Amino acid sequence: MTDKNIVLIGFMGTGKSTVGKILAKRMNRTWIDIDQRIEEQQKRKISEIFEKDGEAAFRAMEKAMVREVAIGRSLVITTGGGAVVDEENLRHLKNSGLLIALTAAPETIYQRVKKTTHRPMLKSGDLMTEIKTLLGKRAPFYAKADMTFTTDKKTATQVAIEILGVLQKDEEFEFGKDWF
Ligand code: S3P
Repeated sequence: MTDKNIVLIGFMGTGKSTVGKILAKRMNRTWIDIDQRIEEQQKRKISEIFEKDGEAAFRAMEKAMVREVAIGRSLVITTGGGAVVDEENLRHLKNSGLLIALTAAPETIYQRVKKTTHRPMLKSGDLMTEIKTLLGKRAPFYAKADMTFTTDKKTATQVAIEILGVLQKDEEFEFGKDWF
């Protein structure tokens, strides 16, 4: 099997981390979540980093972590929603493996993120308006993925199985019969 990483990108609330965790388990790969790594390294939450140091400081940490993690092989990497807005991050991740975008309609994202309090990018105003505005700005970056999966009305397991089904047909990712 190829040692190319599998990299999940996409907007907040598209299920990147949950799907990535399932994918890694089924493919017997190590799962690395960039945001989780940053929180471990900094010994504080992303929301606290934003609050105390600002977004620019967070983006610098994110950039350093992307660079570090992208060196690894045979990983399932999950990214924060803003990671691929940076050209250098996008290049490192793309060079390290297969870029898979998860998408969802603004309404779906709204339902998924409305109860969460840990997302500093969605804190200032009307939630639906913020989602639509940011999604509009980010969509061109997510469109640079090698493949895209919609996640509306699907569970994380369903999305993971769908991805595995496509990877199974990709000759680089030899079919692992124990994936499903
Ligand atoms: C961000 C998304 C978050 C996290 C940070 C910034 C963004 O990750 O990296 O709050 O800019 O979209 P999730 O996409 O996992 O929520």
